[in-house]
Amino acid sequence: MSSPIKHYLQFKDFTREEYEYVFARAKWIKDKFKRYEPYHPLFDRTLVMIFEKASTRTRLSFEAGMHQLGGSAIYLNTRDSQLGRGEPVEDAGQVISRMSDLVMIRTFEQDIVERFAANSRVPIINGLTNEYHPCQILADILTFIEHRGSIQGKTVAWIGDSNNMCNTWLQAAEVLDFNVHVSTPPGYEVEPERAGLYGTANFEQFADPMDACRGADLVTTDVWTSMGFEAENEERMKAFADWCVDAEMMSVAHKEAVFMHCLPAHRGEEVTAEVIDGPQSVVWDEAENRLHAQKALMEYLVLGRIEN
Ligand code: CP
Ligand code: NVA
Repeated sequence: MSSPIKHYLQFKDFTREEYEYVFARAKWIKDKFKRYEPYHPLFDRTLVMIFEKASTRTRLSFEAGMHQLGGSAIYLNTRDSQLGRGEPVEDAGQVISRMSDLVMIRTFEQDIVERFAANSRVPIINGLTNEYHPCQILADILTFIEHRGSIQGKTVAWIGDSNNMCNTWLQAAEVLDFNVHVSTPPGYEVEPERAGLYGTANFEQFADPMDACRGADLVTTDVWTSMGFEAENEERMKAFADWCVDAEMMSVAHKEAVFMHCLPAHRGEEVTAEVIDGPQSVVWDEAENRLHAQKALMEYLVLGRIEN
């Protein structure tokens, strides 16, 4: 019997040991790329990218990454494909996976990627859903490791909305054994079930964002209104006004704390220009690492472990 297909739909789909492999592999692939040494393990392979929401980084990093690994990438969006005209996601999974080696999907409910994967012959990658954004946290933790070493036992302060990024940080904390301090406005607290947590040991919620930042090794935030929630924008702008990461919050974090943001950012809303453009910010390395982390992810999903 052939082994089941490995998908990457949530952060907890991989074990800690698999992450150790993928992070080491990302470093190896990145170093090789920086030396301009061609590396084409996915020669002749095809990635299909399905976008039901907008993207800059995710599209670029997957498309460039697949090209750099020797394969090619095809872009589909809801507007120009039958997906936008009501073709069942199960049928799309059957058809698209018979013509490709790997599929990345950015969509709305997590249920859509789960149903697509259940009908797929090839690995499926979650490129962001309302619930999770595992590829971003993969890149974020690679960035933390590069700047500060292992994340195990460290503390991440999440300030703002308990959205797909927050949920994924919480899952990552359980898998990789670190802590997350979450501070959201009242009414926007973490819903453990939606976050897909095993337990509650690795996170704590704080009413005051200053308390969440105290002693943190990494301070991070995201937009107040995620894609798909635009109708709530006005009420969110009011509710989140005190959840802007500023120099005062950074001053109570660990003196070597780094600041991250998945981008795109809104200066003056969830973060001040002083912080995101300041010396503790690693947002450009974080964005670049989408490329390197996802190359390692794609190689692992298609070819499994490679020992060099
Ligand atoms: N961070 C992120 O996923 O960016 P895009 O929406 O531009 O892909
Ligand atoms: N939470 C944001 C992340 C964008 C990359 C959103 O879902 O819109």
